[in-house]
Amino acid sequence: MSTTTDKIKVIKLEDLAVQIGKEVLVKDQSIAIFRLSNGDVRAVSNRCPHKDGPLAEGIVSGEYVFCPLHDWKISLVTGEVQKPDDGCIQTYETEIIDGYVYIGGLG
Ligand code: FES
Repeated sequence: MSTTTDKIKVIKLEDLAVQIGKEVLVKDQSIAIFRLSNGDVRAVSNRCPHKDGPLAEGIVSGEYVFCPLHDWKISLVTGEVQKPDDGCIQTYETEIIDGYVYIGGLG
């Protein structure tokens, strides 16, 4: 891992399979990274707001991930849990530079 300004390099883009989440640890935070079917790369907290389910292991459909524990549906764009459930997860900025994924907004 290396940094440029406030962004942190976390993974090679080619190591992210489409619609398969990957967990990375950044500054002691567990972050789930996803490459969506439209090519977008999204990064969110790897803890489901329900009971800490590991979202990187969830099933991805479109812009949503389904928590592997109890199937809550969470937007990877806004971080919002979809009805009928409630909650929100932290989302992080992502940027692709020279074939690597960088995450920003970690504070
Ligand atoms: S822990 Fe994610 S839905 Fe229960």
